[in-house]
Parts: sequence; C-alpha cells; structure tokens
Amino acid sequence: MAATDADPTARRTGRGSGGIRFDDVTVAYNGNVVLDSFTLDVAPGEVVALLGPSGSGKTTALRAVAGFVRPASGRVHVGGRDVTDLPPYKRGLGMVVQQYALFPHMRVEQNVAFGLKAQKIVAKSEIPARVAEALRMTGMAQYAKRYPRELSGGQQQRVAIARALAIQPSVLLLDEPLSALDAQLRSGMLAELARLHRELPDVSILYVTHDQIEALTLADRIAVMNEARLVEVGTARDLYKRPGTEFAAGFVGNSNLLPVTVAECVAHGDGSFRATVRIATESGATTGELVTATCTENAAAGETRTLCLRPHFLGLAAAEHHDNAFSGTVTEVQWRGSAHRIFADVHGHEVRLDTNELRNPPAIGDEVWLHFSAEDAVLIPASGTGSPSPDPVSAAEPAPANPASTEPAPAKPASTKPAPAKDAVPIPATATGSPSPDPVSAAEPALAETAPAEPAPAEDAAR
Ligand SMILES: Nc1ncnc2c1ncn2[C@@H]1O[C@H](COP(=O)(O)OP(=O)(O)OP(=O)(O)O)[C@@H](O)[C@H]1O
Ligand SMILES: [Mg+2]
Repeated sequence: MAATDADPTARRTGRGSGGIRFDDVTVAYNGNVVLDSFTLDVAPGEVVALLGPSGSGKTTALRAVAGFVRPASGRVHVGGRDVTDLPPYKRGLGMVVQQYALFPHMRVEQNVAFGLKAQKIVAKSEIPARVAEALRMTGMAQYAKRYPRELSGGQQQRVAIARALAIQPSVLLLDEPLSALDAQLRSGMLAELARLHRELPDVSILYVTHDQIEALTLADRIAVMNEARLVEVGTARDLYKRPGTEFAAGFVGNSNLLPVTVAECVAHGDGSFRATVRIATESGATTGELVTATCTENAAAGETRTLCLRPHFLGLAAAEHHDNAFSGTVTEVQWRGSAHRIFADVHGHEVRLDTNELRNPPAIGDEVWLHFSAEDAVLIPASGTGSPSPDPVSAAEPAPANPASTEPAPAKPASTKPAPAKDAVPIPATATGSPSPDPVSAAEPALAETAPAEPAPAEDAAR
C-alpha cells in the first residue's frame, strides 16, 4: 500500500482505492484556456486513454491529476478524495513521462527506490523487497545494478515504469510512455503494459497518447480530446464501431466521411435505427444511390448527417449486383504487398477502400461498385450540427454521481476566453526542494519520487 505513518492520508490512496474524477476542470496558462471544463471519471481498475492531437490538453489533464498544475476552476478527485489542494507527493500516484527521466548517476535499483525513499512510504527495511518486486514485474530484475546509460530505450522505460509501480500507487499516470521507442519495441511494451495491468487489476491507469493503436489496444475506454475539450468518451470498440462525432470517427481509426441526406429512418429493434440516405450535394440536392446505414438515434427525413464508412468495411465489385453500394470511378490503386488500397471518386467525394491483396485489381478509370453492410455504415451528426450522442456504454452503466461525465461537451474551437482570476500555475519545485532549470518541468521534481524532471542527457549513453 502507498501508505505511510508519517502521512496517514496517503494510506487512503493506496492500491485498491483508485479511481480518478475530473469535475469540470479548467486549466489556463496566462489567460489561455488549455483544458476547458473537463469532466471525466476513471473507475478503479479501469484503463482510460486520453487520445487527441498535439496540443489538445492531454498532458495538462494528467498534470492536473498529478498536482503539477492547479486548475483555475473545478475539482480533481483520486480514490474518492478531493486532492485539488494537495501537493503532488501526497496524492499517492505513480507517473511515467515520455522521456523516462531516470537519474543517470543512479543504478537501476536506486532509481526504482527513489520514490519510496523520497515519499517515506515504507520502512527502510522494506525498500529492497519493494524494489525487487517492481523490477520483477517489469522483467528488469537482472539489470538492478546497471546504470541507465547501460540500458536500451525499452529497458529504461521499464525502469521508469518499475519506479512508478514501486510506490504501489492506486493510480498510474502514463504520458506517452512509449513514444520514444521504435515501432517494434513499442509493440512489445504495449503487450507488457497489458500484462502488467492484468497483474495489477485494481490500479486505475490514465494513459495519454496520440497513437490510436495504443489507445485501442490498451484502454477500456478512450476519451477523445481536441482543442482543450473532451470531444467524446466511450469503449474503444464503441468509439470505433459507433463514433458519435466526426472528430472521433476521423481520429479513432481511418474513415471515409460523406455528407448525406436522410430519406427515411426506421427503428431496427435492437435499439438502433436503420436509415436510407443519399449523398448530399452542396446545393442541397442529393445524388447517387440510395444506401442503408445504422443510426444510434432517430433521424428525420431531410436531415443532413455524415456517413462514416471504414475503408476496410468496403467491398469492391465490378458490376451492380449489390443492393447497398455506391458507384464510383477508380482514381488510384496502391499495391501494399499483402493488401491493396484503392481510391475512388464517388459522386464527387474521394473514398478509400482497404482490402487484402486482389488477384485482379481494378485499373485507374475503371467504373466500380463499393458495397458495404448497413451495420458497418454509421450515421453521425454532421459537424457543427448538434451535440454528439451520449456514450452508449456509459449511458447503460449505473448513473455516475456526476452525469455530465457521460455527456461530453461537443468539440469547439480552442477557447480564447479569458481565464478566471485564479490562473493555473505550475506548482513550484520547492515542494521537494529539487530545483529544475526548465520552468515547465520545474514543477515535476515534486513527483520526482516517480518521475524526475531531468531526463538522462542523450550524450550520457555515450559516456
Ligand atoms: N507551462 C505552460 N505554459 C504555457 N502554455 C502551456 C504550458 N504547458 C502547456 N501549454 C499549452 O497548453 C496546450 C496543451 O498542452 P498539452 O501539453 O496539454 O498538450 P498535449 O495534448 O499533451 O500535446 P502533445 O501531444 O503535443 O504532448 C498547448 O497549447 C500548450 O502550448
Ligand atoms: Mg503531451
């Protein structure tokens, strides 16, 4: 347990009592809102990925949990406890940042023990056992005596994770922990993180990434962020299969997004709806074939929606023998070894199709039919029209204390509204007395127990 006699509050944040709640959290830097009314619950033992483009506020959200920035408004709860006013070292969290941030002058075991010593979490005599256990879990036991410069990137990252695990946090914050690794290592580490979580099923993990594969692979739920706001949250599967917003459809997996007009919409019996639609033209008319798609909510005839077609759900036919298909003209054919990627002009829109390698691929200029099952074609609100549909999974779960968490705010342009009087300021490093030259990470030595602010310099490896 992340408990200490010196700090009885830390006991309550020990493993098994995790969970994170962002309650309408707004963070601003110099009057610029970078996290806007952010509300999200991470259940104990749940892995939630914050997925979004660069600058969307993912790290800021994590830092608000860690205590490195103070929200201008809103509250942060960890393990059911309001920690908004607590310094980082009293929050009982483990954190791993992008660049491992190991102390170069310390051996692996000293790095891993650092948080335990700094936070005085356990009696001195227990530290070696804790360190050994964390190194075992991360497969680094035989490297205990090495220095970081004697390790590969993947091994250094394991040490950083071991250091975060050593304090046995109830909540683990991972900020793009694999981004410094090459593709192959990343894939291996992904599998290891999944295994680690199976070994520690009570630990809540907030995992920041802009890599959709990492999010889809690891996360129970994905929270999609854009321009300081939560756009949509749902299970990985639902966000992929039934995105509620164009942004999520485009960011979680690849998609063809076509403007369509609803001809008719009928209940399907399983709670969803089936709509027949035609491609909408700019003049407000419609064009092309009438096709059927799935809709999670009723749509009125004449409404404009966006049809989301995943490239790999499209089939290719040379002649019109499918009743759910668009006709198009092939504009590009890419052979990718085991696969073909084909682009077609479908009534003025470029549509991409991904398929296994074709024996007889079409040629540029060929007329083709792109067919799909109604189940795999999803209607989502057209951008700028209305709010995204509520997350169908969370909606089915028991109502959370704060129902707003299941109704993410619609995407909107980056807010430039003036920040409330109490601007977020990085919490000074003096909390632990470990100064850092970098004003941003200056706050982070406070959590240096798990994430020292100064990563090992690159040249260190050469020494
Ligand atoms: N200390 C700071 N002072 C001023 N602005 C900041 C500070 N930290 C972050 N920002 C700004 O806040 C916004 C969100 O930053 P954040 O680091 O949360 O993005 P991110 O989603 O993690 O992006 P990335 O994927 O590039 O890591 C950005 O516009 C960034 O420039
Ligand atoms: Mg970031």
